[in-house]
Amino acid sequence: MEGASCSYNDPGRGLNTFRRHCPGSGHRILLGAARSTAYSHTWEQGTDLRHRQRPHRRESRAKRQCCASAGAVASYQLAQISSIPSTSVDPRLLAILAGIAVFVLAVKKIFDTPSRTYDPSNPNVGDEYDSWTEDGILEHYWGEHIHLGYYSEEERARGYKKKDFKQAKFDFVDEMLRWSGAQQPKRILDVGCGIGGTSRHLAAKYPNATVQGITLSPKQVARGTELAKQRGLTNVSFQVMNALAMDFEDDTFDLVWACESGEHMPDKKKYVEEMARVLKPGGHMVIATWCQREETAATPLSQKERADLQFLYDEWAHPYFVSVQEYGRLLEGTGKLQSVEIDDWTPQTLPTWRHSNWVGVWDPWPVIFKLNPFVWYKVLREIVTLERMHRAFDSGLMEYGMAKAVKKASAAPVNQRVGAAVAAT
Ligand SMILES: C[S@@+](CC[C@H](N)C(=O)[O-])C[C@H]1O[C@@H](n2cnc3c(N)ncnc32)[C@H](O)[C@@H]1O
Repeated sequence: MEGASCSYNDPGRGLNTFRRHCPGSGHRILLGAARSTAYSHTWEQGTDLRHRQRPHRRESRAKRQCCASAGAVASYQLAQISSIPSTSVDPRLLAILAGIAVFVLAVKKIFDTPSRTYDPSNPNVGDEYDSWTEDGILEHYWGEHIHLGYYSEEERARGYKKKDFKQAKFDFVDEMLRWSGAQQPKRILDVGCGIGGTSRHLAAKYPNATVQGITLSPKQVARGTELAKQRGLTNVSFQVMNALAMDFEDDTFDLVWACESGEHMPDKKKYVEEMARVLKPGGHMVIATWCQREETAATPLSQKERADLQFLYDEWAHPYFVSVQEYGRLLEGTGKLQSVEIDDWTPQTLPTWRHSNWVGVWDPWPVIFKLNPFVWYKVLREIVTLERMHRAFDSGLMEYGMAKAVKKASAAPVNQRVGAAVAAT
């Protein structure tokens, strides 16, 4: 009876049934039933219900033998099982276990339901950043930079926990600046500036330049301005402005910088076109942004991947992500840019997610001392989301996209080109 199996269920003090699977006929033979009490079993010996419904005479001789033999082996196993002393389960314990199960399922449901879904008819991005700025928790843990950190290969080999979490963000800005290829820019635009960590860093690095940060959040503007004042930086300013419809003239900035703002843009094409518009000919544009992997006919997103992405869109007010390849196409598509390059910095930035949770574990007091269950709940959600982000990037579903380009000289407005040509003759 190779492959045959014997199973039984034991719903406490209820009725247990014992069945044997006969691989020859596919029948499941009911061997017996017993009502168990705490101290004894009584068995009603082997009746084959399936055989009653489908008599043997319709079966082949081989199948009949198989079933007979299954019954014999199973009767033996049944005898063995019936010698095991029964245990009774306290109904109170069952009730507690059921209560725990319901609680766990309810918590899972709450954490699986995104809390800040992007609403295209009433975009909530500015409000969400206002709220993050107001409670100060993000600033406490992440510092003045709301973007991922940079961890070199050696630092990753040594272990990310050995690196200072906030220093990793300054390192990211320096690496991004180096990668951009920009040299001594005079006018810099920081698109989606947060509370201005990068803007101030660039302003301090280039004292002869002016840096303009824009964001949708009035509270970020206020906090960014306050911090610039505290540092004595007079060449940086912040304002509320929509990146998709900027007030700046064409060809204004030498460096257009966009670090982790593209994720929130409901129109990525317009985002790239606006940045290309305000960039000076010869000026540099550099974008760092969370991307999802490129979907092709050969590599479609699975249902699970789609569900995971949907959660990541919705939890932190993102309309959708695109691939880094798509950013490359969008930059090319403006017709105004050249030297377009894209890259994936997932390995360099991946440690940030778990490092972030780690710093919270070592220093939970700012959250605990808020003495506000709503803040505790919010922080707990962030911890779960940070881990989900880590998994999405680690699995290749998400990628850390980098894109850069230089504005073509010929992309200058016609009157400027004519002026230059006249001057040259
Ligand atoms: C993750 S934060 C990035 C912060 C910043 N780049 C830094 O280095 O700390 C995203 C920023 O993008 C801004 N943002 C999102 N959508 C925007 C839009 N349409 N126009 C301007 N800023 C936007 C948000 O207000 C927020 O300041």
